[in-house]
Amino acid sequence: MEWGMKNRLSQLIQKDGKALFLPIDHGYFQGPTHGLEKPGETIKPIWQYADALMLTRGVLRNCIDPTIQKPVILRVSGAVSVVGEDLANESIVTSVKEVIRLNAAAVSMSVFVGTKGENKSLTNLGKLVDECEDYGIPVMAVTSVGRELEKREARYLALVARISAEIGARVVKTYYCKDNFEKVVDGCPVPVVIAGGPKTETQREVFDFVYDGMQKGAIGVNLGRNIWQTEYPLASMRAIRAIVHESFTPKEAEDLFEQVKAGKA
Ligand code: 5RP
Repeated sequence: MEWGMKNRLSQLIQKDGKALFLPIDHGYFQGPTHGLEKPGETIKPIWQYADALMLTRGVLRNCIDPTIQKPVILRVSGAVSVVGEDLANESIVTSVKEVIRLNAAAVSMSVFVGTKGENKSLTNLGKLVDECEDYGIPVMAVTSVGRELEKREARYLALVARISAEIGARVVKTYYCKDNFEKVVDGCPVPVVIAGGPKTETQREVFDFVYDGMQKGAIGVNLGRNIWQTEYPLASMRAIRAIVHESFTPKEAEDLFEQVKAGKA
């Protein structure tokens, strides 16, 4: 692996081999998502606890202070919306020249397996990897499964994770599943991070799945709504960071959450 690629990956994956990415890219297909109406304000209390921010160029340019010392994972796929016909029909909407101009440490794009857009998104991934590898820029595949594969089961998550790695993704983002999550990680030859999905009823549920996912081999998270849509984003962020980087158990994370919430830590 060349110096540039190694250097960029080391900005994302910390010396302990773990990573906490904070995604605020949801507006790219959802518009002004609840909690992200003003992304710059949303991240103010929490960005310093993230290892990297995941976002689009529009939010980066307009809402983020350019003097911020935090690696950026630029989402480069899109051109679909929640009111459109097919969420899987994404295109690449940001050039590699722009990625370099914005000094991103990595790029991300969605990959949809089991949908009509399957071939298009996998072809997009291959082309993006080809272009980005020329400049030592890692690609993170944001994996999804659709239609009959919609159930978040290990065999489907493992399928899309493995295919993304085979095509050249350097990091894979997957959803967590309770049963056999280790199959997803073990079948994927590149580091795996877990997304949070829609906000859960309790914080503890998040601590439990992040902990379990990491016990089963994930290197960390790419987790948004279960941080910035919660009532206590700072407490949530710090508790999740403690699981990722300090091997806190869910119970220890919950205690830290309560302490931060009460202003005692
Ligand atoms: C949404 C994304 C997100 O980055 C990813 O799903 C993680 O966010 P969350 O934890 O809110 O699911 O790609 O477009």
